[in-house]
Amino acid sequence: MPIGWDPEARQLHLQNGTISYVIRVLENGALGHLHFGPRLSGERSYAHVGLGPFLGFTNRLDDPVALELPIAGVGDFRVPGLAVEGPDGSAILDLTYVSHRIVPGKPPLASLPCTYVEADAEADTVEIVLADAPTGTEVRLAYTVFRDLPIVTRSMVVRNGGGAALDLTCAMSASLDLADSDWWLVQLSGTWARERHVVERPLVPGRQSIGSVRGASGYQHNPFIALRRASTTEDQGEVYGFSLVYSGNFLAEADVDAQGTTRVRMGIAPEGFRWRLDPGAELELPEAVLAYSDAGLGGLSDAYHVLYRERLARGTWRDRPRPVLINNWEGTYYDFDEPKLLEMAAASWDLGIELFVLDDGWFGQRDDDTTSLGDWVVDRRKLPDGIDGLATKVEALGLRFGLWIEPEMVSERSRLFADHPDWAIGVPGRARTEARQQFVLDMSRPDVVDHLFGVLSDVLGTAAVSYVKWDMNRNITEPYSLGLPPDRQGEFFHRYILGVYDLYRRLTAAFPEVLFESCASGGGRFDPGMLAFAPQTWTSDDTDAVERLRIQWGTSLVYPLSSMGAHVAAVPNHQTGRLAPLATRAAVAFFGVFGYELDPTRFSAEERHEVIDQIAFYKAHRELFQRGRFVRLRSPFEGDGDRTAWMVVSPDRRQAVVGVYQALNRPVPGPDRVRLRGLDPSAAYKVALWPSTGDSIERANALVRGGDDLMAVGLFLAAERHAAARWGDFWARLFVLEA
Ligand code: DGJ
Repeated sequence: MPIGWDPEARQLHLQNGTISYVIRVLENGALGHLHFGPRLSGERSYAHVGLGPFLGFTNRLDDPVALELPIAGVGDFRVPGLAVEGPDGSAILDLTYVSHRIVPGKPPLASLPCTYVEADAEADTVEIVLADAPTGTEVRLAYTVFRDLPIVTRSMVVRNGGGAALDLTCAMSASLDLADSDWWLVQLSGTWARERHVVERPLVPGRQSIGSVRGASGYQHNPFIALRRASTTEDQGEVYGFSLVYSGNFLAEADVDAQGTTRVRMGIAPEGFRWRLDPGAELELPEAVLAYSDAGLGGLSDAYHVLYRERLARGTWRDRPRPVLINNWEGTYYDFDEPKLLEMAAASWDLGIELFVLDDGWFGQRDDDTTSLGDWVVDRRKLPDGIDGLATKVEALGLRFGLWIEPEMVSERSRLFADHPDWAIGVPGRARTEARQQFVLDMSRPDVVDHLFGVLSDVLGTAAVSYVKWDMNRNITEPYSLGLPPDRQGEFFHRYILGVYDLYRRLTAAFPEVLFESCASGGGRFDPGMLAFAPQTWTSDDTDAVERLRIQWGTSLVYPLSSMGAHVAAVPNHQTGRLAPLATRAAVAFFGVFGYELDPTRFSAEERHEVIDQIAFYKAHRELFQRGRFVRLRSPFEGDGDRTAWMVVSPDRRQAVVGVYQALNRPVPGPDRVRLRGLDPSAAYKVALWPSTGDSIERANALVRGGDDLMAVGLFLAAERHAAARWGDFWARLFVLEA
């Protein structure tokens, strides 16, 4: 029984083959938390876990009682999970257990993206109802345990069952109390062009948090944290993961109290959030995805990768091989016309590329970023036959056609802004802050979403568009909606994201064959909420191969390779000026959804041959790169970070590709070895280098070797010093393993 209810102990036990999550209704009716971690026997009571009978907080005010939904102001002085202001202005709640219901499968959320099951046998769910009599506040908590993954999801609905309005000011999707604080906090932080770098620190007393108040999840911090033991590595040791299926403002926090316990909470950022619940109204909060692994960070990533690739992403493109694309952005920026694009498309087809993507600059009069966002009408100066004409010509060359849009934005110099200045977010009577010379449309307004659905449907419905890149290039300032009364402005940010989801839902439903890729100046909104609509995301505007090692490594902590757009760009690189060899650029970009971002007509004959081989190699291993198990071997964040290594393994462990990368060359290299993981120890693997280098690394490794040998001893990266002196910087080696 994956979810058991023990009426005597008043205990709910969610479990599968590897984990248990145990909740108890405490003596005072509150929901207590007993355990989340290794699987426990389902037969027993765990009421002894904790302090014994709990009747509420006493004068011993620092009692470290573990709770599922902590409330402030009733004796628990740690951070709360829920705060509701009642009609008397107080925020005191006594939420007590009313009932629960266990159902097979996983009911979907009504308004928000979430993970799902395809058959009831894949998961079980318990919905627990709590209520506070004086205010009429009702809370429905839903927990789902997946049968085959060490994952529990949690979501919450807050309803006003009373007779007077309530104001919700804090509603955390996850709240988990842990018995100690001997943890390292792992977060994915950065900025534009260096997104999702791994940052780690030991927990200290007090609150340590990350989050966003920008209106998007943001590249400053991803809506994910992990807690690992100091000794946890990639392949062993305990780690908890917390991931939020949400694309807007969020908070992820660990609060260590005086007794050394830790409370982790995650949800919509309380800062600036205030949601009015009229009598009978309810609000659904985003889903938090909690994972536990005793197989290190790699075990945690395995679980998130499977869940997010197979049961968060959806639609036609979830399981289909993703096309090798070329995007014209870095090749032309705004400076193109139809002959130029067709010349690039023809050259792309010769190389084996499958999809030609036209980026920014095709609409209005957009020759730079000062104008035209919102005017989704083709610029006939550049494209006299329209998008439909261009798409038809690209298809005639043998490629599919894709198009860039940035629906949520408006330029001050645009017809849309002239017609609807009130649709741009801003406070009446105050200046609007411009960023990238554009304003943000008020997506909290249904009329704005309706308008965008209409104009974008016209574009997608009248041309052979197979792919859409949905960009979003600035964050929200002067948050305020003319569509909301003054006392509801605290709802604005969440309503904005609901509007974005609504537009995504309608467009993906209307155009189910179109592959959507989300983007936000690169990876500024790379989150599970977006992945529920667009199965791939442009990982970063930084296409430099060396920088990408860190970005793709960090991103892979949570997100599968099938979700990461990764392109080969021209050199000198446009973000760093670096001159990484073409082979290295491809060897990094292979580990993702592969493509090019340059002008292919500028390749030399030699480069053209190399690119033809790269594309053929990727296509031959596409299934492996897009759906294989990704294993991180050597971190660019550890030591001097000079050597990075990772690999993909097929589900049957018969095939693998290992990537080894070196940033700067050092004289007289030592006898370095990289041990592999995830192979079949009893299989014999033929190891080959791709492309063949003919050097000492190839000679040392091109052998038939046992899986046990490759995992225990590893690949050899040593080289004789004169040979190594010729390597130069920024090299990569790909090892192809066939059982
Ligand atoms: C930011 C994106 O990340 C780029 O790839 C490109 O699409 C530009 N915007 C276009 O303005």
